[in-house]
Amino acid sequence: MFGKKKQKPQIDKAQLELIQNAQKRIKQKKRLYIHFVIFLIGAIFLIAANTVLGIGKDVQFFEIDWFVYAILLWLFFFVYHAFNVFITHKFMGKAWEQNQLDKLVAKQQERIDKLKEEFVKEETLIAQSEVYNETTSKAENTNSNSPKSELTIIVAAGENDAIGKDNKLIWHLSDDLKRFKSLTNGHHIIMGRKTFESFPKPLPNRTHVVISRQQDYKVPNGVILVNSLEDAIDASKNDLQPFIIGGGEIYKQAMLIADKIELTRVHESFEADTFFPEIDTSVWKETANTFHKKDENHKYEFSFLTYERV
Ligand SMILES: NC(=O)c1ccc[n+]([C@@H]2O[C@H](COP(=O)([O-])OP(=O)(O)OC[C@H]3O[C@@H](n4cnc5c(N)ncnc54)[C@H](OP(=O)(O)O)[C@@H]3O)[C@@H](O)[C@H]2O)c1
Repeated sequence: MFGKKKQKPQIDKAQLELIQNAQKRIKQKKRLYIHFVIFLIGAIFLIAANTVLGIGKDVQFFEIDWFVYAILLWLFFFVYHAFNVFITHKFMGKAWEQNQLDKLVAKQQERIDKLKEEFVKEETLIAQSEVYNETTSKAENTNSNSPKSELTIIVAAGENDAIGKDNKLIWHLSDDLKRFKSLTNGHHIIMGRKTFESFPKPLPNRTHVVISRQQDYKVPNGVILVNSLEDAIDASKNDLQPFIIGGGEIYKQAMLIADKIELTRVHESFEADTFFPEIDTSVWKETANTFHKKDENHKYEFSFLTYERV
């Protein structure tokens, strides 16, 4: 039961192939040898048939007996057979075929790999260009769909930043009013409820946006009522240059988010109850300054100053 198992000789696949090939070569050479022997006997027989037995004695081609052609033809077949055994089957056998096939497959694989590589490269380029196009078009869309609007504060303030008293302006400067009209013409003007109430009536050709905490505050037709500065800016989002026109409370809040200040600096100090916040020159840069002297229509000297956020 536990006796030694009879050992079987183990031959691997390569050895088996070599043995089979050797057997095949022996068979081929044996057949060639038999062919050679038959050829010799056959040649002797053909010669004897013609010369001894007189078969086809008168049959000649170009004055040469027929058996010579027959032997030459047979010799040709024999040489062809020998060629097959020693050349064709030796060098172009199954192994040679397999080798050629392997080479061909390897070559094809190489071409496929190269094509794959090119395809991946091309795909990467396309993906990159797609990403690039997408980013560019997004940027273009952002630029074209929502060009940056410029929230601008417009104000007239004395040297001591005074802007109003008893809900009224302190001075009358006609060129300043003209400038106010020309700059704000056609735009949204955002103001606090108190400033709105300081007007006798809404100004023509401007969209009034009034800020109040009162939900039920009544405004005339065409005037927009909002409850915060953010809502006021939102209501003006289609305007490329909405203006914050006051008063003191709204200026204070808008200074934190505005892009530009158009200030008329009246060169005098005034008694007031409402003031403009101090302009911090580390945040705001003066970009324009035009002086206007006193005359019969202008009781005070003043300057038109433009500030832009640094
Ligand atoms: N020199 C100039 O260039 C100039 C320009 C404009 C005005 N002014 C002067 O400035 C003075 C008026 O200014 P002011 O400071 O008294 O008043 P204002 O800023 O015009 O208005 C203040 C009102 O706005 C509303 N408000 C303010 N902040 C708000 C918020 N965050 N959310 C909702 N509502 C808000 C409130 O209305 P409710 O009380 O209804 O809630 C508040 O009472 C006047 O003297 C005017 O002549 C001068």
